[in-house]
Amino acid sequence: MVAKAHITVQEESQVRPERVPYHLAIIMDGNGRWAQARGMPRLAGHKAGVENLRRVLRACSEFGIKILTIYAFSTENWGRPESEVRGLMNILESVIDHELNDLDANGVQLRHLGRLEGLSPVLQRKVHEAIERTRNNDRLTLNVAFNYGGRDEIIQAVRRIVADGIPAEEIDEVLFSHYLYTCGAPDPDLIVRTSGELRVSNFLIWQGAYAEYYATPTYWPDFDKEELRKALIHYNGRERRFGLVTPP
Ligand code: IPE
Ligand code: IPE
Ligand code: MG
Repeated sequence: MVAKAHITVQEESQVRPERVPYHLAIIMDGNGRWAQARGMPRLAGHKAGVENLRRVLRACSEFGIKILTIYAFSTENWGRPESEVRGLMNILESVIDHELNDLDANGVQLRHLGRLEGLSPVLQRKVHEAIERTRNNDRLTLNVAFNYGGRDEIIQAVRRIVADGIPAEEIDEVLFSHYLYTCGAPDPDLIVRTSGELRVSNFLIWQGAYAEYYATPTYWPDFDKEELRKALIHYNGRERRFGLVTPP
């Protein structure tokens, strides 16, 4: 018992607490391939992905991450077979129905990134209620990017800026950021993509301007606390220069 506790502490200490990303974003990819590799339907992979999210959320809290943004459904994912799209909508609804109490009890504040239009009225109402109910929680913020696209987010921002009659000379990066879905939240420090793909797929294209990127071949349902630890250790070793030079 004592030995086990000792090992855990040693492993944890590899991630430097003062260098844990404040805001971690994850492109949770590979659910379909995970299922196909097991001879299961793609939706079984999405269900396994949700199970894994619960584990990763707990691990994020343990590592001291304050904001976790997850890419759950893109504006392009509407083009998938209707049964898969419907299955993904049902999964979101069932997560709200079954996980909200636990999320709330664990101090998780839920936010939504993306367009609610397009989701069913029932689902829209449930998302609103979940956000409302958890708005004062402050242990960890979970941003769920659902029906989210980075280009769409920028277009929506431009439209609202124009509708608000903002003069051109008043538009700067700070003002523009306030019109994005992430309004008020710091940019992601680290963006992780699972499943081996090396692309952004329309995720946080404005906010990720200076994020560190980390990719792993592991499919999302298998991305566990140890995999997260590896990502965080990599991040520890990154030198973030933001276009400046390292002081001698
Ligand atoms: C990611 O897994 C989840 C969503 C995009 C909804 P995929 O469904 O993209 O799984 P792969 O990439 O086809 O394996
Ligand atoms: C990105 O994954 C979207 C989500 C994880 C929700 P995709 O599987 O949709 O991206 P592509 O098609 O591989 O670029
Ligand atoms: Mg994919």
